[in-house]
Amino acid sequence: MIEIKNLTYTYEQGTGYEAHALNGVSTRIPDGQFIGLIGHTGSGKSTLIQHLNGLMKATTGDILVDGTSIYSEHYDMRKLRSTVGLVFQYPEHQLFETTVLKDVMFGPKNLGLSDDAAKERARKALELTGLSGERFENASPFDLSGGQKRRAAIAGVLAMEPKVLILDEPTAGLDPRGRDEILSLIRDLHERRKMTVILVSHSMEDVAQYVERIIVIDSGKIRFDGTPREVFRHYRELEALGLAAPQVTYLMHDLADAGFTVDTDAITVDEARDSILKSLPQFRRTV
Ligand SMILES: Nc1ncnc2c1ncn2[C@@H]1O[C@H](COP(=O)(O)OP(=O)(O)OP(=O)(O)O)[C@@H](O)[C@H]1O
Ligand SMILES: [Mg+2]
Repeated sequence: MIEIKNLTYTYEQGTGYEAHALNGVSTRIPDGQFIGLIGHTGSGKSTLIQHLNGLMKATTGDILVDGTSIYSEHYDMRKLRSTVGLVFQYPEHQLFETTVLKDVMFGPKNLGLSDDAAKERARKALELTGLSGERFENASPFDLSGGQKRRAAIAGVLAMEPKVLILDEPTAGLDPRGRDEILSLIRDLHERRKMTVILVSHSMEDVAQYVERIIVIDSGKIRFDGTPREVFRHYRELEALGLAAPQVTYLMHDLADAGFTVDTDAITVDEARDSILKSLPQFRRTV
């Protein structure tokens, strides 16, 4: 479990350009949870997650992993980086090897694994991301499609076999199909591998149907934290923070205001359809 205690981070500390990116963030991330971290641009999402694998060091505050502060003396940062895998925004920009297989082997080799062991892990990771087989292994990463490149980059992090997987805007710039593929892959990793997953996004719509918990961050502070339903009930306040609830939330509230007895907590199109049909007498029998 990860425990974040009153974390603050200031960029350019001590200069005239100080930027207080995190302003007292406290929360717990239990093992096996699937979390959406949402906030508008500049709210502090990337800053926060880079603390969780030790890439950035808090200005004040603490982070405990399984009860031990990652800032304690002799803490094994290398181990932390393999336990908490971080997939950056546009991770495909970091592909650099001559073949996909070599690229995915890079992380495990860096952990000190032999060539053979690294290859085995890389093959497993490529299989998980749907890029297995010689055709992909020996391809240059630069010859892959955009969505495939993204999956190869995710495979590179999975090959380190992390327990916690953090993805910074993993669907940015992908078409709807590419987006669905990546999100289903992530859901699979969570469900089948029991991984803890933190999915960073500025789109409620994207994460609504996947995650079990949403943390909303604004100006480096947590504003809402709960199940998607709980968080979307604050849709007016979310709007004031520059975030929109899923379209369905607005539709259902408008219908309720117009006198229909519909479920304003519906968060997916399917739930909304069922609820609307049920509210219409002529359809009641068929639902
Ligand atoms: N290297 C930096 N130097 C100074 N200020 C920075 C730096 N990086 C980020 N900031 C500031 O810190 C704040 C939080 O930035 P951060 O990148 O964490 O936001 P974000 O939520 O990830 O945004 P986005 O959705 O655009 O990726 C912003 O106000 C940003 O301007
Ligand atoms: Mg960011």
